[in-house]
Amino acid sequence: MDRVSKVYGSPVPFTALRDASLTIDAGDTVAVVGPSGSGKTTLLGILGGLERPSSGAVQILGNDLAALPDAQVAGIRAHRIGFVFQRFHLIEHLTVLENVATGLLYHGVGGRARRSSAQAALERVGLHRRASERVSHLSGGERQRVAIARAIIGHPNLILADEPTGNLDSVNGGMVMSLLTGLADADTAVVVVTHDPTVATRLGRTITVRDGGIVDNTGESA
Ligand SMILES: Nc1ncnc2c1ncn2[C@@H]1O[C@H](COP(=O)(O)OP(=O)(O)OP(=O)(O)O)[C@@H](O)[C@H]1O
Ligand SMILES: [Mg+2]
Repeated sequence: MDRVSKVYGSPVPFTALRDASLTIDAGDTVAVVGPSGSGKTTLLGILGGLERPSSGAVQILGNDLAALPDAQVAGIRAHRIGFVFQRFHLIEHLTVLENVATGLLYHGVGGRARRSSAQAALERVGLHRRASERVSHLSGGERQRVAIARAIIGHPNLILADEPTGNLDSVNGGMVMSLLTGLADADTAVVVVTHDPTVATRLGRTITVRDGGIVDNTGESA
């Protein structure tokens, strides 16, 4: 991300992100911290191609998101990026397996391949035995693990999690953080927005945002 700003339009223009520059490498685990309203979710949304920057450049694996049409940004999002949210965003009336399989809907693979990939992703989060249950039967911690399986089913290079432990107790939060940090590898980076200092200390480096600006970014490789 190079000198990215985001200005929301109406009724009065508001700068939610100002001149933000950062680099995230494969293998990195990054915490994004800062007060409520400081721009953390905005930063994550721009990193993930959910929102377009008002100015500046966002490059993912050599693709400049700001220069690409929406359809191509959506393709990069589907293939390269996995999202995890505080409130899980699962589909209640579907089974665990069906929820995970939706993570491949835009990959052009058939139903059978989606289901076998979903089963493999569920094994990675330890929920393969629950595949045929409805998500409405699951606890919060289990739901978040389903959401993580959905995020990783397509082997993304960047996993973005916005307050993933915000609705969990400390035991389940710890389990979710272990899973998330374990996903970083030679091809994959993990970025976690959090209010919780103990969550932040579990990640390799911390980016601090205040009033829309990055005020601290210690540990970024030169
Ligand atoms: N779509 C939008 N239109 C207008 N303003 C917005 C929009 N989205 C966010 N904002 C504003 O931008 C600022 C940053 O919001 P953002 O959601 O990024 O904060 P945050 O750091 O994630 O906060 P929290 O910790 O409460 O989740 C806030 O003042 C917010 O009201
Ligand atoms: Mg937020």
